[in-house]
Amino acid sequence: DKGNHRHFMAKEIHEQPEVVGRTIAHYVDLATGTVRLPLDLPFDFKALKRLVISACGTAYYAGLVAQYWFERLARLPVEIDVASEFRYREMPLEPGELALFISQSGETADTLASLRYARAEGQHIVSVVNVPTSTIARESAVVAPTLAGPEIGVASTKAFTCQLAVLLSLAVAAGRARGTLSAEDEQRLVKALVSVPSLMSEALKHEHDIELLSRDLAKATDVLYLGRGTSYPLALEGALKLKEISYIHAEGYAAGELKHGPIALIDETMPVIVLAPHDAIFEKTVSNMQEVAARGGRIILVGDERAAREASVETWTTLTMPAMDPIVAPIVYAVPVQLLAYHTAVFMGKDVDQPRNLAKSVTVE
Ligand code: M6R
Repeated sequence: DKGNHRHFMAKEIHEQPEVVGRTIAHYVDLATGTVRLPLDLPFDFKALKRLVISACGTAYYAGLVAQYWFERLARLPVEIDVASEFRYREMPLEPGELALFISQSGETADTLASLRYARAEGQHIVSVVNVPTSTIARESAVVAPTLAGPEIGVASTKAFTCQLAVLLSLAVAAGRARGTLSAEDEQRLVKALVSVPSLMSEALKHEHDIELLSRDLAKATDVLYLGRGTSYPLALEGALKLKEISYIHAEGYAAGELKHGPIALIDETMPVIVLAPHDAIFEKTVSNMQEVAARGGRIILVGDERAAREASVETWTTLTMPAMDPIVAPIVYAVPVQLLAYHTAVFMGKDVDQPRNLAKSVTVE
């Protein structure tokens, strides 16, 4: 049932404040403002030397964001790869370490094969899955559920943001166990996490502006997405979302990589979507925006008010996000990224829920 929405994808984008809120409430104790994992972990985060993560597509991008979180908050080194590579890499894994798999459907063939490889190598297997009865859930020692509810649209939206909510909770729990986060740090992070649903509702209010913007985006043949830190995986996700439903060619890049090649593509016809909350590395992204502006690229800045004020370049449009702790920015900034792809594809008359050549669940390799 699509409710009042034209497409499942629209319904699922709009459901996010609710389902992300439900997911967060499952992992944090609202009364004490601490993370409380409803999981029986057969290992101690403190004893781990390394975490490996594997997944496909959008779930892989959630894993890339989590890599920053686990390394920064828990000082736990992370190795991550797409499952189609991971399964054949023959990566040496020391027994007793942790392997994390992320999947909406829980049926993705490559992710399942990676899980089996890691299990055979003696890893503890934890999976973040949306379908609790799935094969990946059944084969995992521990299942950390996303409470997104059924996701029908082929383009993953609410499963992604719920995955991020679970992964941030796990990273905070790991940081606490490893002694890299103080009680105050944890309180601050949990507070930021708990504020996410209302921040997502704020972000959804930009839908009309995004819809107008999408009419211009629909004319582009190529679109570039840039970001640094956790905004980098979000840039990859933005590009994937746009290409899979609108069929416009899009690329996501780490903003600092611009001058190593992609800058050659920039001219007046090239929209460049810059994902830049005002975080610790914002200044660096500003330099990259200046490089784009100097070559006539059309910058669409997705940032908070402070970022908009301090960007010091002429942007084509700015989508102003609410101010927030930068740690949760990738969860909230997913909303404009999804809406932009959705409205562009709808404006172009594409079938957003059933894009060509794609299946919701990829059960063959
Ligand atoms: O069910 P899974 O999360 O394992 O699926 C992984 C990818 O196939 C999936 O995220 C795909 O990239 C989506 N169509 C992206 O929107």
